[in-house]
Amino acid sequence: MSTAVMDAPPAEAKATALPRLGSPAPPFEADTTHGTLRLDDFKGGWLILFSHPADFTPVCTTEFVAFAKIAPELKKRNVELLGLSIDSTFSHIAWVRNIEEKFGVKIPFPVIADLNKEVATLYGMIMPGESKTETSRAVFVIDDKGIVRAMVYYPLTTGRNIEEFLRLIDALQTSDTHGVATPANWRPGEKVIVPPPRTVEGADARMKENYERKDWYFSQKSL
Ligand code: BEZ
Repeated sequence: MSTAVMDAPPAEAKATALPRLGSPAPPFEADTTHGTLRLDDFKGGWLILFSHPADFTPVCTTEFVAFAKIAPELKKRNVELLGLSIDSTFSHIAWVRNIEEKFGVKIPFPVIADLNKEVATLYGMIMPGESKTETSRAVFVIDDKGIVRAMVYYPLTTGRNIEEFLRLIDALQTSDTHGVATPANWRPGEKVIVPPPRTVEGADARMKENYERKDWYFSQKSL
């Protein structure tokens, strides 16, 4: 038997169950710029786990600066940030030091050094059609119970709207607290959506309820 046959398959070739909305986030343990971290270390709080293609690249630098800027607002909402790319801890350290020196922004969150692509593979962050060696711009919002609540993927060439993740967290936490949904382009303080009835009886009842109603399926209220 040739050694090629006996070798373990590359990490990206292993069959894995990719994250799904509403299901537990895949557990991991990883080397980061803040030491070894496990998914469990974040339990009890929310986590935004995000990947970027590579250190020392311009679009990723703008994203890191933007993530650093919203980090204090996220903290107020019990949300931590955790970055990831297929680079070494030494590269990450050099890059975050460079961002502080050149852009005057301290990166307060840890960054996973996923050189063996283990976490990237577990979370489906590598899109081989775009790049086999870089992670796409993936974002996973994981709630305080370890459940995946949102997943976002952006291509290599497009920087993400980082403020949108703050809005997304506000929307998810508002939905959890008040049992409501949020409309397109919703901002905190604006009217929310009362979930539509799922039965004929519910639809009849909704027509008598005291909401701002367009029709049986469309009711809004202020919180
Ligand atoms: C960037 O972050 O600038 C970048 C990374 C990968 C491909 C293209 C741009």
